[in-house]
Amino acid sequence: MDKKGVEKRINELREEIDYHNYLYYVLDSPEISDAEYDRLMQELIRLENERPDLITPYSPTQRVGAPPLEEFASVTHTIPMLSLSNTETEEETMEFDKRIKRFLHLSENEYVEYVAEPKLDGLAVEVVYEEGRLKVGSTRGDGFTGEDVTLNIKTIRTLPLNLIKKYEARPARLEVRGEVFIRLQDFRDLNRHREESGEPLFANPRNAAAGSLRQLDPGITAKRPLDIFFYGIGEIAGRSFETQWEILNTLKRWGLKTNPLNKPCNGIREAIEYYREIGNRRDSLGFEIDGVVIKVNNLDLQGRLGTVARSPRWAVAYKFEPRQATTRILKIEAQVGRTGILTPVAIMEPVKIGGVTVSRSTLHNQDEINRKDVRAGDWVLVQRAGDVIPEVVKVIISKRSGKETPYKLPDECPVCGSDVLKEDVYYRCTGINCPAQLKERVRHFASRRAMDIEGLGEKLTEQLVDKGLVKNISDIYYLTKDQLSALERMADKSSQNIIDAIEWSKEKELYRIIYALGIRHVGEQTAKLLVSEFASIEDLISAGEDDLMKIETIGPEIAQSVIRFFGEKNNLKEIERLKGAGVKFPPLQRVKEKGILTGRVFVFTGTLHSFTRDKAKEKVESLGGHVSSSVSENTDFVVAGKDPGSKAQKAKELGVKIITEDEFIKMI
Ligand code: IVH
Repeated sequence: MDKKGVEKRINELREEIDYHNYLYYVLDSPEISDAEYDRLMQELIRLENERPDLITPYSPTQRVGAPPLEEFASVTHTIPMLSLSNTETEEETMEFDKRIKRFLHLSENEYVEYVAEPKLDGLAVEVVYEEGRLKVGSTRGDGFTGEDVTLNIKTIRTLPLNLIKKYEARPARLEVRGEVFIRLQDFRDLNRHREESGEPLFANPRNAAAGSLRQLDPGITAKRPLDIFFYGIGEIAGRSFETQWEILNTLKRWGLKTNPLNKPCNGIREAIEYYREIGNRRDSLGFEIDGVVIKVNNLDLQGRLGTVARSPRWAVAYKFEPRQATTRILKIEAQVGRTGILTPVAIMEPVKIGGVTVSRSTLHNQDEINRKDVRAGDWVLVQRAGDVIPEVVKVIISKRSGKETPYKLPDECPVCGSDVLKEDVYYRCTGINCPAQLKERVRHFASRRAMDIEGLGEKLTEQLVDKGLVKNISDIYYLTKDQLSALERMADKSSQNIIDAIEWSKEKELYRIIYALGIRHVGEQTAKLLVSEFASIEDLISAGEDDLMKIETIGPEIAQSVIRFFGEKNNLKEIERLKGAGVKFPPLQRVKEKGILTGRVFVFTGTLHSFTRDKAKEKVESLGGHVSSSVSENTDFVVAGKDPGSKAQKAKELGVKIITEDEFIKMI
């Protein structure tokens, strides 16, 4: 290729990569495989190595790799970043609407158009694009001046370095505002890694996001799973808007990710209804929100309403109940998990947090207890984020009486009396027959996402293990109805139901069994990945570290854990016993090398005319995909047949791609 040719190709590649990033991150509907994407990226890296003079800060290769800073420069926002006034009740929210109507001389029974948006609990930032290129990213700071975090912001994968110009002309200048946050699952993983490496844990996703973005070394930020949703603009040149809804839609077309749950509402009642719906789903959104922001949609009206005391009159944050509360620790106990790790747990005076009564809270490990100086008898601030286990944020030192007692994890297992060994931050029970480990393993094995044995919960497991009816997991499969009926609080009918559920569980998919085995670091998603690569349990057992690491997202930690698990004789024996008891371990049916739908999750709704549901499922699975019965954030495509049901609605809300049956046929 000549010089001109290289330059042209570099530009083509950059544009193509930006576009595929947009399809992947903003629309959640990629058109090329990860491998194809990697090839484009590799080609670009190669050409840029040939022509380093052509490297610009806006190239997709330049997200990471900048050296650490001494300190952040400050950035003055052209238009101050305001804060919002809050409401906490329906009455106050109705009052907000009335005030607006009074101010605008509208009659009481007219409807104001609003846009309702989840209020993300993260960190506000402003990003400036000039001629479509990312120039500066800054934190909100005090609203007038923030910190220049451009290098850190650029490491956020979902944020475009260049605005997409395919659908809308790019403005000469755009100041766009949004919230940087961390998803709950990523937060849990991040804290687990920190725990394993003995680093202090983040108190909540918000702190984790803030701590990650305000790092002087962008290399650290790059390793943190930050995400961003944009919700508004500051100054803009070369484009005007009429409504907030138009702003949100245009941002999305420029490749700036917006929250798929945002919704236009006609009148305050609709907005309040939205608040209730989102409130009901608060625990399953996958990210923390602390309320709903209600904004007047029309920008002229916004202008007329103006601002009072640093908050706009045209918007309000209708807050949810706080997720924190104070209570007293009655005592601290050590709980033994299925891997033998002792976790200190605070038993507290029951307290309601966001509608749920909480009486236990994790203290994570001894280091965390020491760091926070938590003692039995202390008053503490407790918090519950999404479906994360409640935890103690801090001790309220001013309430100490002097009678509080410090806590240290025991040297002997509180359940079986075996020695406890300290490994890094963890204290682990060394008893191989420790009933606590067995109980936890059985409970996990039977849980809904694993073998889904309904009725085999904590209480029953407790009795089965204590009575010696279950000494190994496989013993579950030899239980009889009479044995169950003889237990406390077990009627004939429920015993039969459990026996039936145990019987059905023998047919469960391979990934569930692998997840159910409780291999350290192998969650449900990883189990699915393992099965998509190693179609049978035998293949997985004989896999080497290199084979495992070939799978994307599987690193040395998971690989070693899998190898250690199957390297243990007792575990292999247990698998044989499960097989002997009739558990099928059904191998994944694989067609061709690797299916074109590998890793894709489909949901069907409505009536299909070319297939039965079962046939459609078979087809997807034969191509490496997976069919799920309900729509979630993990769903890639919802195939809508005739008269689609509520699943299509849910898909819309979550921003999941909906395709017709014909499109599906084309795809396969
Ligand atoms: S609008 C004048 N929209 O809440 C309008 N803010 O107190 C100002 N926030 O620091 C913000 N989600 O970081 C807006 N959809 C949303 C939001 C949102 C979260 C945060 C924002 C700001 C605070 C406002």
